[in-house]
Amino acid sequence: MQSGRMSDHFHALRVADIIAETEDANSLRFDVPGDLADLFRFRAGQHLTLKADIGGEDVRRNYSLCVAPHESELKVTVKRIAGGVFSNWVGDHLKAGDMVEVLPPHGSFTYDFSPDAPPRHYVAFAGGSGITPIMSLIRTALSVEPKARFTLFYGNRDSSSVIFLDGLSDLKDRYMGRFELFHFLSDEAGDVELFNGMLDRETCDAVIEDLLRDPKAIEAFFICGPGPMMDAAEAALQAAGVDQQKIKIERFTAGRPSAAKAAQLQQAKEQASGTSMWVTLDGRARKVEFNGDNILDSARDAGLPAPFACKAGVCATCRARVTEGEVEMGARYGLTDEEIAAGYVLTCQSVPKGDGVKVDYDS
Ligand code: FES
Repeated sequence: MQSGRMSDHFHALRVADIIAETEDANSLRFDVPGDLADLFRFRAGQHLTLKADIGGEDVRRNYSLCVAPHESELKVTVKRIAGGVFSNWVGDHLKAGDMVEVLPPHGSFTYDFSPDAPPRHYVAFAGGSGITPIMSLIRTALSVEPKARFTLFYGNRDSSSVIFLDGLSDLKDRYMGRFELFHFLSDEAGDVELFNGMLDRETCDAVIEDLLRDPKAIEAFFICGPGPMMDAAEAALQAAGVDQQKIKIERFTAGRPSAAKAAQLQQAKEQASGTSMWVTLDGRARKVEFNGDNILDSARDAGLPAPFACKAGVCATCRARVTEGEVEMGARYGLTDEEIAAGYVLTCQSVPKGDGVKVDYDS
């Protein structure tokens, strides 16, 4: 679970190195000054929010850490996407020595690995740059839990687009018998038919049946990659009878909401018109008018530095807890079921239901 709260407090960190991972993916390693070391401690699988002024616009993006906490490095991987403002700015303009505004690590795509754990088997399905948080989880699990095994199913277009190709094969050598890796390539054909093609539903079903055999015995599944791949892996695991609690998913982008959900949210916005709410941030509660759109923007319009990155319900940077009243929430990809049950909402996706709702960013 995500730790306690920050407001929109970015810190300028120096880019120590830029490492080309593939033709279109770069890892950025940051220097963390001693006085910020505690603040930038992280858990395996978490991400950083980076911020830059690009063409006069405040652009923010979340990028997952690709290293393990014990490695004492702060490193994220940024893959260029077609038309992507931030990823192309990183690829074209950023250099070692430059300063970047960074929010401390956060995110709930993580796990409690323990040195005393009995032998446990973890499995991940990754696609493209979705390998980034999974790399952090693999490195951590294998290093922290001496009896753990990890199996990775990793889908890519072709071998030149595989991020961490060498790093993964080093892990195989280092943790012989404890780390298994299967590559799936859509545009390259090898001898084994199962590995030719994408991680679609049919392939995921086959993988679970042929390579895992007893999926219910797996400790946890981690899924990160393109939307269709994540949906396929999740559906295949559900069909194999895996407990939903064991399936952890990290999304980078949001799907389009259903027409019914969009209409429901629109109606909630109209009903909330003229209401006000109490927003607690950095220990202070302030009364804020609803701006007709969402709680996050209402708070920011009132001058509160409420944190955000994606504004699409994916990253959970804007997470807060509702301590009184109720809200209507649209997309909620960035929250786990436990967080929702504990009253957490994504404020960029939430609309107050009635007057006097209380929202706490510090919880
Ligand atoms: S800003 Fe990303 S979920 Fe709200």
